[in-house]
Amino acid sequence: MADPKHSSTELSEAEIAVHWKEEEYFYPSARFISQANLVDHNVEKRFSLENFPNYYKEYADLLDWYQYWQTTLDTSNPPFWRWFVGGLLNASYNCIDRHLARNKGKAAIIFVPEPEEEPATAITYQELYVRVNETAAALREFAGLKQGDRVTIHMPMVPELPVTMLACARLGVIHSVVFGGFSGQACGDRIADSGSHVLVTMDSYYRNGKLQDHKEKADQAVAHAQTCGAKVNKVLVWRRQRGAYHSKTPMVKGRDFFMDEVLPNYFGKIVAPVQVKAEDPMFLMYTSGTTGKPKGIQHSTGGYLAYVAGTAKYILDIHPEDIYWCMADIGWITGHSYIVYGPLALGTTSVIFEGVPTYPDAGRPWRIAQRLDVNIFHTAPTAIRQLRKVGPEEPRKYNYHFKLMVTVGEPIEPDVWRWYYNEVGKKPAVIVDTWWQTENGGFLCSTKPALNPMKPGSAGPGVPGIHPVIYDEKGKELSPGSQRAGNACIRNPWPGIMQTIWGDHDRYVQTYYAKYCKNRKSKDWRDWPYFAGDGALYAADGYLRILGRVDDVINVAGHRLGTKELESAALMVPEVAEAAVVPVVDPIKGRLPEVYVALKPGVTIAHNEIQKKVVASIETTIGKIARPAHVWVAEDMPKTRSGKIMRRVLAALSNNMAVGDITTLANPDVVEHIKTMVQAHAKPAAPADAPEDIKRFGQSE
Ligand code: WT7
Repeated sequence: MADPKHSSTELSEAEIAVHWKEEEYFYPSARFISQANLVDHNVEKRFSLENFPNYYKEYADLLDWYQYWQTTLDTSNPPFWRWFVGGLLNASYNCIDRHLARNKGKAAIIFVPEPEEEPATAITYQELYVRVNETAAALREFAGLKQGDRVTIHMPMVPELPVTMLACARLGVIHSVVFGGFSGQACGDRIADSGSHVLVTMDSYYRNGKLQDHKEKADQAVAHAQTCGAKVNKVLVWRRQRGAYHSKTPMVKGRDFFMDEVLPNYFGKIVAPVQVKAEDPMFLMYTSGTTGKPKGIQHSTGGYLAYVAGTAKYILDIHPEDIYWCMADIGWITGHSYIVYGPLALGTTSVIFEGVPTYPDAGRPWRIAQRLDVNIFHTAPTAIRQLRKVGPEEPRKYNYHFKLMVTVGEPIEPDVWRWYYNEVGKKPAVIVDTWWQTENGGFLCSTKPALNPMKPGSAGPGVPGIHPVIYDEKGKELSPGSQRAGNACIRNPWPGIMQTIWGDHDRYVQTYYAKYCKNRKSKDWRDWPYFAGDGALYAADGYLRILGRVDDVINVAGHRLGTKELESAALMVPEVAEAAVVPVVDPIKGRLPEVYVALKPGVTIAHNEIQKKVVASIETTIGKIARPAHVWVAEDMPKTRSGKIMRRVLAALSNNMAVGDITTLANPDVVEHIKTMVQAHAKPAAPADAPEDIKRFGQSE
């Protein structure tokens, strides 16, 4: 237990004592251990810093190289790390071709459509090989793409998405997949930033029982990209139902083409995999940061692929014969690393599910698990909470057997963890709580499933080779067991780490390394710890408990939303003078954004009108995933004397917490007014122990 005296003394924000009940350990079964990939107790020693960076040869050796690399890690230009220098490889070859000799008839992907009456389809490694080759031929010859070009892919959860990604990888073309739920405008921003001239999309897809129009977003994306000065020459449109078009928007002549009409021209065409350098970029993945513009996180080919293959093998315990199902969306990093690249590099069978887990009812995931005999299951706390809420006893009605389950994306409450363990995993399944980020390529912290006991709510120690360290604001290390929250950092580089932010090297250095860099001139990696942007607590056993973001990023259902991005969307509404966005605790999604707006002087408009406009603007600029829990219309914003909006105060009000000292505000009376307004709206009781991210929110300004 935390020492109560810390909470009453003056401490810097990052050192706030955290009241945290130690949870008891849960141990993996003998049966799990007997089949696990990683059972060597010596692994800690092999992957100790003394052996850095050479221990990552083990990961690189999971891949096939055209030319073996010479230098494990080149640190001559920190923090621009170069892994496996001198190596040549191809990701599509590693995920497909090399499995053909022994496993061409094995399912690479099993696609489960949302409509339950539509049967699941298996795509064998041979079939995937043919489809990827034909698609690569079309991308090269029809769309004119070559190595180093960028392509934006805005697609739902269908097999054509990994087919397109792998076709890009075959050509050395850099893909930038934008989550299908993002709006056309958000997609357009990413098209422009990446400099893509080709957009790959789909006409429609099933979600919640309805066939959604998706192609309309492509038209918005192209139009928006144009306003940012970027020209899209070709839009390639997959069709959910071959030959049938399910979008209201017309195809634009000379720009839009149906993939099912283009592909027959490349029937049976084989494209030799392009041999790329290990450090050639493989893809971009946009993510939100503190400032407005999303960051194009750039990942390498060799380092990234080696890292996801290694972590999928040792932490997910993927064996070639497993049926592995990750319920994340491929449009996020989890899907890239642990639906597509990691599992396929290991030659396993990866399930892709089109729909939402609770449609048509909360038994759906367990019916899928039973029917396909899934034995590894991967999802996020938000889905677990939702499934528990609507179908707490559904799992026991179905006959499936998981050996391992994953939770990722946000902290999981110990209570939710126990339901996952007891009900979904039926006790035999091991749980790994994997903490990592878009920027990291693969896992940072997790228990090693056969070697470490599980502790509900804690991610665990660093995975092999990752050496975490927790710093306070001043750069002092907080030792395990110190019971103080600090900033989670990693001492050493690793192969899966991003290479840079696309087109913005300075922002890359500033965001992730400036804070704790010991010497900017140093060429020694030891001087460049990686700053993750998460608060964490280091337990005496070396397990990390992640407390959430320390910057103004809101983690909604495991997805990052930038406060500033939402605020600029609200400010697009002409009547709005000022906007502030804060996180509010939600029992299912973890956090939701709440928006405060103040109107321009003289504006008279009904509050519900302005609320609708703000919500609409957020949905158009970002997407429905960013829909706020509430829009409050305030007569003014609480401000400092220098005119800065005090988001900290608003976050406290939204979460029914004490606002703290407001005597230094320029307009303390505004706080009373907002409080009355917010409290009139039914609010849950104040949390006994306010979450760290909410307590700290807005402090960094
Ligand atoms: C942020 C990264 C790559 C995973 C999907 C989200 C939070 C992630 C955990 C976990 C507690 C977690 C962190 C992190 N997060 N995993 N196991 N326990 N928090 O990727 O969108 O880049 O978000 O998600 O706050 O910084 P992302």
